[in-house]
Amino acid sequence: MDEVSLTRRYHFAASHRLHSTYLSAEQNRLLFGKCNNPNGHGHNYVVLVTVTGNLDPESGRVAELEALDLIVNEAVVARFDHKDLNHDPAFTDRVTTGENLVQFIWDLLVDQIPAGRLTKIGLVETRDNYFEYPMPALKT
Ligand code: NI
Repeated sequence: MDEVSLTRRYHFAASHRLHSTYLSAEQNRLLFGKCNNPNGHGHNYVVLVTVTGNLDPESGRVAELEALDLIVNEAVVARFDHKDLNHDPAFTDRVTTGENLVQFIWDLLVDQIPAGRLTKIGLVETRDNYFEYPMPALKT
């Protein structure tokens, strides 16, 4: 049977500051501009979780939404919602860019998908910034 993909949308609000521990204060200011402001700033992040697999013949679904929600809400939403991303242990040595965040969300979920398999994480950070992992051509 052909596989089908399901994408479900999740949301969390979090603050962050773009700041690299590998760079000087001046280099950080030059590289990240206002995003390096010491007071930080917030985003309403949207996470798009795509799961791909064969349909369950009885339910006609790729995955039970309730089971998926339970996992994503616990692993991702509860971890980041109303938190400062710079204080998350995963970002001690990594800048809290959308690029790093989308990869980390993938890592949090890839081994926990209840049915089918994880094939994409999309992350909307602002009206104009969208991140995606993995690269479409590198999907397995
Ligand atoms: Ni930002």
